[in-house]
Amino acid sequence: MTDRITTRVSDLLGVQYPIVQAPMGWIARAQLASAVSNAGGLGIIETSSGELDAVRDEIRKMRDLTDRPFGVNIAQLFVRDPSIVDFVVGQGVRFVTTSAGDPRQYTAQLKSAGLTVFHVVPSLAAGLKAVAAGVDGLVVEGGEGGGFKNPRDVATMVLLPLVCSKVDVPVIAAGGICDGPTMAAAFALGAEGVQMGSRMVSAAESPVHENWKRAILAAAETDTVFLNRFSRPGLRALRTGRSTELERQEHVGFDVFARAMDLYFGGDMEASIALAGQVVGRIDAVMPVADIIAETMRGFHATIARLGGLGEADASHALSARAAQTTTRRD
Ligand SMILES: Cc1cc2nc3c(=O)[nH]c(=O)nc-3n(C[C@H](O)[C@H](O)[C@H](O)COP(=O)(O)O)c2cc1C
Repeated sequence: MTDRITTRVSDLLGVQYPIVQAPMGWIARAQLASAVSNAGGLGIIETSSGELDAVRDEIRKMRDLTDRPFGVNIAQLFVRDPSIVDFVVGQGVRFVTTSAGDPRQYTAQLKSAGLTVFHVVPSLAAGLKAVAAGVDGLVVEGGEGGGFKNPRDVATMVLLPLVCSKVDVPVIAAGGICDGPTMAAAFALGAEGVQMGSRMVSAAESPVHENWKRAILAAAETDTVFLNRFSRPGLRALRTGRSTELERQEHVGFDVFARAMDLYFGGDMEASIALAGQVVGRIDAVMPVADIIAETMRGFHATIARLGGLGEADASHALSARAAQTTTRRD
């Protein structure tokens, strides 16, 4: 396995590799998150399911399954229990991402309890607001990613360098990242860590039904739909019969998740919607998390080495062009 890579994100998270597994309702639980932490990345436990008793058990399981760091996500849109911060602080985790809400709501309380807080943002304005609220870092999430989205979606390629050029805090890139080249691209654009959602749904340790994993492998890059383009919340999900119908609907309500468990764990792909990003078009194998992370690190280093070599080639081309000019002038 490749050596640790040192960035502000890996230092803050205390991980070998700054690769974060996305929080995902019901999916981001101990089985998946411990595999990520044990492989040198950062597993995150979700709270968006709202099942805090189950979440508490999952965090307990994490302590049996790994001695490495892991985090928790507070998806603010789904918070039903006003004591969520006390709950998270009480679990003894050191790292939290907050998402889908106002960063001013929980940051001060979480930070005064000694936690490191990253807020998920879909725009520059949201990023600046989170920095002003005192967060330690940002998860900058492009609109090609899966899950709940800002209806004014901006792709990672535009959003990431924009935000990174305007803030000083460390940034984790999300949306479209599934391997070493995309991680290297995110670093080229200013990120110091990456978060993978769709890739982790497809992982061997992901608890979702194999029909969902098979649908990811079969999907082309054009096989996601954006729901609620003119309403809220925006959602990106796999293209199915159901989601293709919903795509044309003015507003898709939360009732679309009423039978989510039948899809997530029962494999009925029409029972609800399967949140997923455009990167499904690049995922063609179910792999153990350890292999995903090892392959990502190999690809990351290979990409950087290749680009470094290009730089040298450019330099020698420039030199030979200058030499040619000199020769011409002498002639
Ligand atoms: C099935 C699924 C569920 C998600 N649930 C959450 C969530 O509860 N909280 C959150 O902050 N982000 C959630 N997201 C977004 C991810 O955290 C992540 O940023 C996104 O998947 C990145 O894009 P990618 O799918 O291209 O990797 C979810 C994404 C997926 C695919």
